[in-house]
Amino acid sequence: MEQILLKNVEGTKLADIKNYTAVGGYESAKKAMTSMTIAQIIDEVKKSGLRGRGGAGFPAGMKWDFVPKDFKGPRHLCCNADEGEPGTFKDRELLEKNPHLLIEGMIIASYAIGAELSFIYIRGEFVKAANTLEAAIAQARKQGFLGEKIFGTDKKVDIIVHRGAGAYICGEETALIESIEGERGNPRVRPPFPAVVGVFGKPTVVNNVETLAAVPSIIKNSGQWYAAIGVPPKNTGSKLYAVSGHVNKPGVYELPMGTSLKDLIYNYAGGIKNNKQLKGVIPGGSSTPVLLPEEIGVSMDFDSLAKAGSMLGSAAVIVMDEDVCTVEESLRLSEFYAHESCGQCTPCREGTVWMTKILDRIEHGQGVQGDVELLERVSANIMGNTLCPLGDAAAMMMLGFLKKFKAEFAQHIQMGKCPVNKK
Ligand SMILES: Cc1cc2nc3c(=O)[nH]c(=O)nc-3n(C[C@H](O)[C@H](O)[C@H](O)COP(=O)(O)O)c2cc1C
Repeated sequence: MEQILLKNVEGTKLADIKNYTAVGGYESAKKAMTSMTIAQIIDEVKKSGLRGRGGAGFPAGMKWDFVPKDFKGPRHLCCNADEGEPGTFKDRELLEKNPHLLIEGMIIASYAIGAELSFIYIRGEFVKAANTLEAAIAQARKQGFLGEKIFGTDKKVDIIVHRGAGAYICGEETALIESIEGERGNPRVRPPFPAVVGVFGKPTVVNNVETLAAVPSIIKNSGQWYAAIGVPPKNTGSKLYAVSGHVNKPGVYELPMGTSLKDLIYNYAGGIKNNKQLKGVIPGGSSTPVLLPEEIGVSMDFDSLAKAGSMLGSAAVIVMDEDVCTVEESLRLSEFYAHESCGQCTPCREGTVWMTKILDRIEHGQGVQGDVELLERVSANIMGNTLCPLGDAAAMMMLGFLKKFKAEFAQHIQMGKCPVNKK
């Protein structure tokens, strides 16, 4: 498959608008703005089968279509560049190396939903990416691709980069909206959904960086073209997989959606470091349930991973070798969720802290009989009982580790110490 998102990024400095336009950049935005109706654009994106790359896999064209057509007044597009899920670093690759592709996708999406002012919400730690984006936006404005009367039309689209302060919860779309409004990033009750009541009370579409960056290629080549890549009809297009952990070649790989996890680890990422054995793989960011070595034949797409009892999530593949202690690993992740919980919902605020306390005592040799069952009960009581899925993410992670590595947890309790780590 020819690369779509990372094409030309190595060797060509695509963050410079001269280089980006030299390889056909902004032609798709021009085509959309000057020769296509809003309905045609949305139809093309629907035909492409493009599903959101932020985690939930919601069809992008359908989301755009939800924005009320008869609403009088401003609407907004928010690009979610928070990228806070542990293990996830695919969007940063695009933000730093191909910012104009994202801007071009945002121009098209803004036009399609009737937004004249759009936002990129970027996590505070991404200083280089935010500076790169701001420079790219300034270049695009200078060229007449952003601002008033763009591409010689009477249409207006502008983009503001909004830097967050580095809170995982601000990647959740309603918390992100609160944060843009200057409030503390607490998720909102839904309904109303952002497509109806979003930023500053106006209809808003929130899309991930990778989702929006796929749009120019769809407008250029057609939805049908995009839909033929990957696993049609429901898992189409190319996908950025971020591979980290105990592999020889960690990195971001753009491959057809549905590449097997085994191929990704052993072929693209060069196999397990130091010829160690594989112990487990988290396939889609820290919240997605862990898979065992015998399960890595799975196709890395939304529906296949769901069928395998996990999730594609943000497609952040975390590879763990034989020396990893799964109690220590889940403790580390649990600490993260407890720290990042916004605290609004009791099951998440209290549950993640209890989960951490129990894991901590198991890992440090003070686990008691019944702790595994207690962890299961605490997780089950978080699941589905919170305003946003942060609590579910913590519970899914925990239940995944308990399902696949229960014996290791029991062994810690029985032995009164960690059997894996040579401490
Ligand atoms: C706690 C939490 C953190 C999230 N972080 C991100 C994020 O960093 N980036 C992102 O695109 N989506 C994130 N999401 C998902 C967003 O809420 C939303 O579904 C997504 O931005 C929609 O874009 P998409 O349809 O293009 O996938 C997060 C969700 C939760 C619950």
